[in-house]
Amino acid sequence: MATIAIANQKGGVGKTTTAAHLADGLARRGHRTLLVDLDAQGNCTSLFSDPPAREESVHELFRSSTPARDLARKTRNENLTLLPSVLELAEIETLLAGNVDGFFRLREGLQYPDGQGPDFVIMDCPPNLGLLTLNALVAAHYCILPILASRFSLDGIRTMLDTMETVRHRFHQDLKVLGALMTMFNDRTAISGAVLEPVEEMVPVFETRISRSVQVEEAHLMRQTLFEYAPSGKITGQYEALIQEVLNGIEKG
Ligand SMILES: Nc1ncnc2c1ncn2[C@@H]1O[C@H](COP(=O)(O)OP(=O)(O)OP(=O)(O)O)[C@@H](O)[C@H]1O
Ligand SMILES: [Mg+2]
Repeated sequence: MATIAIANQKGGVGKTTTAAHLADGLARRGHRTLLVDLDAQGNCTSLFSDPPAREESVHELFRSSTPARDLARKTRNENLTLLPSVLELAEIETLLAGNVDGFFRLREGLQYPDGQGPDFVIMDCPPNLGLLTLNALVAAHYCILPILASRFSLDGIRTMLDTMETVRHRFHQDLKVLGALMTMFNDRTAISGAVLEPVEEMVPVFETRISRSVQVEEAHLMRQTLFEYAPSGKITGQYEALIQEVLNGIEKG
């Protein structure tokens, strides 16, 4: 089982879109995949499921240590299961504050009896460095850092990398940055190129870049992924290439 956190404390950089497509795409390749929605906005959840009751959601894992295997629900993609989110997840930070095992709930909730776990766990993090993102980093073997090709996107990458370094030392020796992913990229604008270089100095960057495309919003409105909405679209191909890079990166260890 490989667990991958999709994290960046900045809002609107493409975390959810990356998580949903990585999970759906891996599952379409036959890998048993669990998508964990850690954002109270529930964007991943609404893409794959109706809204759950609070007791059927990831909230319950944090509240009562119910394991993920008892909460994950089926989706229309037979290899993809979803651990859905609810609005009340926003309260979990307060509920867990002061709990000694507060950082470990997700890691513990993702334990499976031998051979019964999914092949991949993809975690969609909220846009902050609170307890939910920290739970994801503590539970993760790998992290992907989506980065918007805009001039404000460099702020905060350092903070994110420092946070991962702390997690690596304090909680989990194995957390590896699989790469930064340039999202909503436009080869023709100077800004996209100007952002890429300083990012490359800080962290490995995936060769695959995700272009800006209206198809992303269109698919989202239809509650479909691009694999469903535009199977032969250019951006769908970019997600395929990303998945291959992720698989290669994990194989290399
Ligand atoms: N490649 C793309 N082209 C055009 N629009 C995109 C692309 N990727 C994402 N978007 C849109 O940009 C917005 C932000 O994307 P997304 O929700 O994936 O970011 P996020 O980092 O999860 O945001 P938040 O921090 O609020 O959780 C969404 O409306 C999404 O549909
Ligand atoms: Mg999101």
